Amino acid sequence: MTKDNELKHIAIIMDGNGRWATRRGLPRSLGHKKGAEVVKNITRAAAEQGIQYLTLYAFSTENWQRSPEEVSYLMTLLREYLKSDLTELRDNQVRIRFIGERYMLAEDIQQMMCDLEEETADFTKMTLCIALSYGSRQEIISAVKKIAQSVKSGDIPLEDIDINLFSDMLYTKGMPDPDLLIRTSGEKRISNYLLWQLAYSEFEFTDVLWPDFTPEHLHQIIENFKTRERRYGKV
Ligand code: FPP
Repeated sequence: MTKDNELKHIAIIMDGNGRWATRRGLPRSLGHKKGAEVVKNITRAAAEQGIQYLTLYAFSTENWQRSPEEVSYLMTLLREYLKSDLTELRDNQVRIRFIGERYMLAEDIQQMMCDLEEETADFTKMTLCIALSYGSRQEIISAVKKIAQSVKSGDIPLEDIDINLFSDMLYTKGMPDPDLLIRTSGEKRISNYLLWQLAYSEFEFTDVLWPDFTPEHLHQIIENFKTRERRYGKV
């Protein structure tokens, strides 16, 4: 478990792209475009501020239900991002990994994800984890199925099922749990994000919309986190 106030892992729900655009009389797509630029700035800022893991919610399993035009635009942005990001990741020594139901994404996107994971596997400054087609309940059910299968086949005795074993069956295997969850845009929900992993995380909600979120906002939230006392259920 993480030491009090140690900030290794920040998870972010990047919300408010649509509202940012609508308030300016622009199409929602332009909010997402600006949001993708902010992803790059915040990744760089987090690495500079010594954060070891940054997990971003880029597309949820529920987001597939948005209009076909919006889904298609988000996929276009994602392709552009995956194509352009290697130099940036290399310059900043950032390792990338993806969590989510990959099989639901187009094959070329899956391939780019695999390639980027391989190409950045040795970088150690920070791990950028992008949640794509991700849903935490789905992740938990898939872990339960894997465990049930292993118990059924006799590979795992029932008594061996514990918190560590379960954590290792999740997409986030090997990553520490987030110390801090940030959600932008004023909404106060976790929207099927990292339900297991957020058990002891501190939550920070800001009214700032994701396209307006700056490294300075991040810095302020990090400073605020340092003043919090984490007790993990102890007195
Ligand atoms: C929430 O805004 C944001 C999303 C559903 C997607 C997040 C995507 C990005 C930041 C850009 C693409 C990311 C990458 C990694 C290339 P919303 O549309 O729900 O906003 P609203 O609540 O104001 O409608």
